[in-house]
Amino acid sequence: MIQYTKDNLIKLLKTQGSEYQTLIDNALAVKKNNIGNKIYLRGLIEYSNCCRKNCLYCGVRSNNTKISRYTLTDDEVYECADLAMQLGYGSLAIQSGERNDKTFTDKIAELVYQIKKRSDNQLGITLSCGEQTEEVYKQWYEAGAHRYLLRIETSKEELYYKIHPRDKVHNFQMRLESLNILQRLNYQVGTGVMIGLPFQTVEDLADDLLFFKQLDIAMVGMGPFIPHPDTPLWIYKDAIPSVEMRMQLTLKMLACLRLLMPKINMVAATANQTLYEDGREQAVLAGANIIMPNLTPNKYREDYLIYPDKACVGDKPMQCSFCLKGRMMNIKHEIVYNQWGDSQAFTEKQQ
Ligand code: 5AD
Ligand code: SF4
Ligand code: FES
Repeated sequence: MIQYTKDNLIKLLKTQGSEYQTLIDNALAVKKNNIGNKIYLRGLIEYSNCCRKNCLYCGVRSNNTKISRYTLTDDEVYECADLAMQLGYGSLAIQSGERNDKTFTDKIAELVYQIKKRSDNQLGITLSCGEQTEEVYKQWYEAGAHRYLLRIETSKEELYYKIHPRDKVHNFQMRLESLNILQRLNYQVGTGVMIGLPFQTVEDLADDLLFFKQLDIAMVGMGPFIPHPDTPLWIYKDAIPSVEMRMQLTLKMLACLRLLMPKINMVAATANQTLYEDGREQAVLAGANIIMPNLTPNKYREDYLIYPDKACVGDKPMQCSFCLKGRMMNIKHEIVYNQWGDSQAFTEKQQ
């Protein structure tokens, strides 16, 4: 395999025109050779928008009083899980604002356990519920979750504190420690960053790619930063790269990472579709192999707007399922149903 240095990556992240297209085409070829043209789905359940954090970019931050706070009932969660089974989605992703009280952490364990039971272990479960203690991560793993997504948001500590309050609750080293614990517990661990943040440079993004590689991460979810009017970072909306540039930069990041880590799972983030109608297809063509169709009951979705203009907010799960199938067929990719779709990089490492 080619060795990619920081300088190589910076050059690739700066390519334009025909060189840019070559990069994207190479990434697609590497993907097809290593993991094929298959797309795996994670039915997304946005469990709760109650959050103890106050990230400066996020619409769900605790200081935002413009949204009403909700938590799904147990029955609503089980209905989502049943729907995932009916639609043939092999896996679920349960995402939530961060809470660390025992009522919450025990509830997540119970929901995971019950979903595994009622689906007869057919549904794989990815959790994305923020930073927790080792005990909690262990409890959730034992309940049946086997993948965990915790974005580092940026691997540069200095930038981390420009997009988060600098206090005990938002601590870069703690987040790194969480990723370590999760790997030690044998979760398939995913992380990721936002692309096109204020103050972020191409050098920072190259470092992010090397960070994923160094951690030997199993999955990555990364997408463009989208300024939200009810957050502090909104004031930088005109100081960040244009929509076109952020999309291109996102696609270049995906393509570079596919070259660096040919067998990991990489999400075509929904945020891509906020920028361009075919944003997720473009991400798949740049190397992504995972899509997360939303299963959250429609009445709650307006209150889970992490960023504005999220795709599919008004669409029923059935419509999305049908729509995605067509979209993937159009770009010569095939959705795989009823399989967990684990990261091949992780599976091979286990053997
Ligand atoms: N734009 C893009 N992505 C965002 N996220 C949060 N706010 C935004 C935003 N304004 C992403 C973060 C977080 C995930 C749940 O959503 O990366 O980890
Ligand atoms: Fe909470 Fe996550 Fe939003 Fe931060 S990004 S405010 S932790 S929901
Ligand atoms: Fe939701 Fe197309 S994927 S409507």
